[in-house]
Amino acid sequence: MVLSFSPLAFPPTIDSAHFGDFGREVSGVQPSYLSPEEFAKIEKALYKHDLLLFRNVILTPQQQYELVKAFDPESEQYGHGNREFEKNKASILSYLKGLPDVPQVQIIGHGTVRDHEGISEVTLKHGRHPEFHKTRVSEEDEAKGFTRFLRWHMDAALYDLKPPKVTALYGIKVPEGPMHTVLYDDGTGDELEVTLGTTAFVSGKVMFDIMPRELKSLALRSRAKYAPHPFLWMRNAKAKPTGLGLETEGLETPLEELPAWEEGKVKTYPFIWKNPVTGGLHLQVHPCAIIEVDIDPLPPNAERQGARFPEGGRLTDLQEIRDLVYEMQRPGIAPNVWVFYVLVPSVLTESAIS
Ligand SMILES: [Fe+2]
Repeated sequence: MVLSFSPLAFPPTIDSAHFGDFGREVSGVQPSYLSPEEFAKIEKALYKHDLLLFRNVILTPQQQYELVKAFDPESEQYGHGNREFEKNKASILSYLKGLPDVPQVQIIGHGTVRDHEGISEVTLKHGRHPEFHKTRVSEEDEAKGFTRFLRWHMDAALYDLKPPKVTALYGIKVPEGPMHTVLYDDGTGDELEVTLGTTAFVSGKVMFDIMPRELKSLALRSRAKYAPHPFLWMRNAKAKPTGLGLETEGLETPLEELPAWEEGKVKTYPFIWKNPVTGGLHLQVHPCAIIEVDIDPLPPNAERQGARFPEGGRLTDLQEIRDLVYEMQRPGIAPNVWVFYVLVPSVLTESAIS
């Protein structure tokens, strides 16, 4: 077979004007072994289409790790690093478990798994919105099939370790059952039909493209500083009903009460990254973990009419920061236009290197 890339089947409600290039199904190769020529085409396709789907393939954990590492061969670190979150049950990521022989690949899902890749038995428990959101869907409505997004995020530790270039989900067992309905519960009435165990993806490029001009200018001038040990820092805070960031109630752990941390390991990244293949601009901000925003001023000769923070600034008020990031990101998760969802298995592994 010949290596080929075909468009994915989108929900009928999606705006194809923005998603023509988003996502491709790859056929004609085994991702467990790619020739250098095949890998070069796949690497380019991933940057062009943001998400690639391989159906009916078998990957060992080692092969999954090697596939992801090929996108960033110099890297020796990965995702959340040395299984730090597993040691600390207080972390909101404590449900992630690295495989014994390939700790770069983590097993996630829900339920008891036996004899899997060196694990004799483990009971997996996936996060659920009632434990993370400030409010919840009633138990009565949950029983009728209503649910929420848990937490919008990028796969990155955001302290000490660099974010990965690429991440991979390998589905092993997919739950079967009737569709569920995601409620946004933010006063908009937005809803989204999803399959069981869905992981939703949004395009950071579309998120940027649909911003009004003044927000684009602000995003291009902004950098996000993330909290030290962000997943411990936020462990007592509660999320908004859309799962897109946190409510501001003063529940974050004071920095002096966190495990030892160094300013030099705190991460600050631009809001926008430039795609090296397409030249496109993509928004990339973790709405839960951000603790400060630094904004550059507009150039002296730039148009100032309607500009936000034309003289630049530094935001340290969490409410102000979260309101700004929410304003930038919420349009990008709207159901009828932008969200694309893919299958999601009840047991799956996820690997990421940084
Ligand atoms: Fe993730």
